[in-house]
Amino acid sequence: MKYESQKIAYNYFVVATLLFGLQVIFGLITGAKYVWDFDPLLNILPFNTARAIHINLLVVWLLFGFMGGTYYIVPEEAKTEIYSPKLAQLQLWLFAAIGVTAIIGYIAGWSWGMPFLEQPTVLKIGIVVVALIFLFNVFMTMIKTKEWTVIQGVLLGGLVMLALLFLFGIFFMKNLTTQYYYWWWVIHLWVEGAWELITGSIMAFILLKLTGVDRELVEKWLYIEVGLVLFTGMAGTGHHYYWIGTPKYWLWVGAVFSALEPLPILFMVIDTLRDVKERKVEIENKLVLYWAVGGVVMHFFGAGVWGFAHTLPQINQWTHGTQITASHGHFAFFGAYVMLNLTMIYFALPQIKGVKVFNQGLGFKAFWTMNFFMIIMVLGLAVAGVIQTYFQRVLGMDYLTTQGFMRLWFAVFWVSAWGFAAGALMYIIDFFTMGRIQKSPAG
Ligand code: HEM
Ligand code: HEM
Ligand SMILES: [Fe+2]
Repeated sequence: MKYESQKIAYNYFVVATLLFGLQVIFGLITGAKYVWDFDPLLNILPFNTARAIHINLLVVWLLFGFMGGTYYIVPEEAKTEIYSPKLAQLQLWLFAAIGVTAIIGYIAGWSWGMPFLEQPTVLKIGIVVVALIFLFNVFMTMIKTKEWTVIQGVLLGGLVMLALLFLFGIFFMKNLTTQYYYWWWVIHLWVEGAWELITGSIMAFILLKLTGVDRELVEKWLYIEVGLVLFTGMAGTGHHYYWIGTPKYWLWVGAVFSALEPLPILFMVIDTLRDVKERKVEIENKLVLYWAVGGVVMHFFGAGVWGFAHTLPQINQWTHGTQITASHGHFAFFGAYVMLNLTMIYFALPQIKGVKVFNQGLGFKAFWTMNFFMIIMVLGLAVAGVIQTYFQRVLGMDYLTTQGFMRLWFAVFWVSAWGFAAGALMYIIDFFTMGRIQKSPAG
């Protein structure tokens, strides 16, 4: 670690890690409701509330991770301390307070309703304030030295895009079609636009530091990826406009452009593997390498392959809104953004804690356990989704009868989710104990 203020990232990673644990707990609660008829929490925490908390926690902890990652990367790229560490700390507390209020609010029934954007308007405005403080602080740090790098530029671009798009999720509209039209500007254009830019720049930074390959090479690929992500991802929004009352041309636009979306993701895989092959320094922290390479591969399968599988209207007209979607949602979010955050954390944490050599055993166990069980979870939901699509949509069986046939696969999903939870716990323990019990004479 080169700059003292990079330490601020640690506080963000702590919050991210704790909320990750909480997200998994709420996932298990939500999933249990699919497996059993008897639900002791029915009146306190019904399915929709538990689900809202589960997915809100997901997005919020990933954002904490991105923010921490940014505060770690920007000083090194800009070659200066963070403009205001105090502001960064204030931003953290404000965001955490909004998050806690939102969760308590959901349990009390205070919700806006739209999935992922359930936060009531007042809290949404608070989130905008958090974003403004963050962008201001990051921007002021960058212009202190004017050491513009492509990595910084793309990172800032992604963060600005992320914040601007959120504004489209704030306004209440009378027409459900217009409401959903703009809802996708937040949901789709985040994960298939802004977040991909952030991912590209964070990965570029880590690969640069980890492998010592030439900056020009890393940045050249970053340009290509960013260009392609924006080109395919923006028009690719059309894959959500097939059936919500938007004009017919979206069938074509959505099909063609979203079918191209796996391309930039594939490039990320090729690019990462090439960087690793051409590395110029010995990589001591093998664990980061596993998270990085594993991450791009899982990103490709979860988002690219699982996304492509149901993106054409000829297929999506049958699979839309089934458990196929939930299978893809878990796979893509895990492969792309959970693994990216864990890559970032495993890269930065040893440096922040000042441990050169650390016992990577538990980290590797967490890596394999989470990946293995996530794949089983995803396959379980996929089978449930195929049954749902075929019985309900093709054969016309009614909803609840179909659910009965899906239950076995929900059980497979839920049991393997406990395995995933064990992996997540290993990571959490590793996060908090790294350097404490592992600061051996060697390190
Ligand atoms: C990392 C990137 C991605 C993430 C995190 C992600 C996540 C999600 C999530 C959570 C949903 C469900 C939204 C909802 O209805 O509540 C969804 C839907 C969908 N995704 Fe992705 N996705 C990603 C990339 C992609 C890509 C690259 C494609 C296409 C190649 C794709 C195709 C789709 C389609 C077609 C749907 C709608 C499914 C339906 O009709 O029910 N996704 N995605
Ligand atoms: C490990 C325990 C977990 C369990 C038991 C679990 C369970 C569930 C359940 C039951 C739902 C609701 C699905 C529906 O509406 O039909 C859900 C939604 C979701 N979960 Fe999880 N989850 C877990 C972990 C995770 C993780 C680690 C991630 C992130 C990578 C994640 C991301 C999501 C997303 C994005 C959705 C919304 C999907 C959509 O809109 O289609 N979950 N989860
Ligand atoms: Fe999408």
